Amino acid sequence: MKVIEKVNQMREELEKELASATSSKEVSEIRVKYLGKKGLVTELTANMKELSPEEKREVGSLSNQAKEEFSKKMEEEEKRWKEKELYQKLTSEKIDVTLPAFEMVQGSPHILEKLTEELEELLMSMGYDVVEGPEVEKDLYNFELLNLPKGHPARDAQDTFYTKGEELLLRSQTSPVQIRTMLQNEEKTPIRMICPGKTYRRDDDDATHSHQFTQMEGLLIDKNISLADLKGTFDIIAKKLFGSARQTRFRPSFYPFTEPSVELDISCFNCDGKGCPICKGTGWITVGGAGMVHYKVLENGGYDPKEWTGFAFGFGMERLAMLKYNVTDVRTFYTNDLRVVKPFDRKEVE
Ligand code: DAH
Repeated sequence: MKVIEKVNQMREELEKELASATSSKEVSEIRVKYLGKKGLVTELTANMKELSPEEKREVGSLSNQAKEEFSKKMEEEEKRWKEKELYQKLTSEKIDVTLPAFEMVQGSPHILEKLTEELEELLMSMGYDVVEGPEVEKDLYNFELLNLPKGHPARDAQDTFYTKGEELLLRSQTSPVQIRTMLQNEEKTPIRMICPGKTYRRDDDDATHSHQFTQMEGLLIDKNISLADLKGTFDIIAKKLFGSARQTRFRPSFYPFTEPSVELDISCFNCDGKGCPICKGTGWITVGGAGMVHYKVLENGGYDPKEWTGFAFGFGMERLAMLKYNVTDVRTFYTNDLRVVKPFDRKEVE
């Protein structure tokens, strides 16, 4: 068969194939079949070596023409299919903007966080700075410099997790930040600081204890500070958190880093001091500890106790939150159950 005839036959075949193609992918397969390295058009020139120069020229030019013609045809077809496919894709993926949207769930801060921020705001308005301290703490700051030397019996109540021998531990209280703040303040100027943060203790987890909990430390150092200043400050805090009807009282206590030391009690918001199950019949609820900074702690922080006085306090934030929001199990704060957080949010909106 002559080359020209072969080309004509090929053209007919090609047209048939293109007519029955149903996608751009099929067209590109046809392209490979005809124009690929081992394609039909290339085959036309397979036995060129055996041909006379004249035949060579003829076969060469015919196969080149075929190549050009076929490739143009296939390009057009491919383009046509691609446009069609794009259109189909766009129409099938059309977004119906009238469909009802997913309901957006509005988040709300955790109640511990909310309460912490509320206290921070109040104390900042009274001139306190909010500072932070490390949760992995040195025994030196957590105990030693707070007048709790090794072997002191008061350490037992704050047994915690040790990370490296006896020197590094998960802080059992935020009080080490008192020492850190005093030492950092090289000019030895007055201090007003609060430090909210996580604390840890070896505790059997039950309804009122957790191995990890939150405290808010406070430290004020200045000249001529007395227990009356502490009482006034506590009074403001209690009224702000639990309402203006709340009374406050000090109860004698012991902390190695304060002298004298007190427990901070608030008159029960539930029974107004008459006695109920929440306050265990006493009419009062304890929310933290406090006292006048012990002279040894002042000395350890580089403050001369003959010149400086101060008070310190520590609140248990879960304790405050349990009372404020009537939560009966401390573990509720850590289980990420949104039902716990939501109602408090709504209460405030109402
Ligand atoms: N750190 C104490 C505790 O965890 C609470 C406390 C008591 C903090 C008296 C103070 C303080 O700053 O003066 O039990």
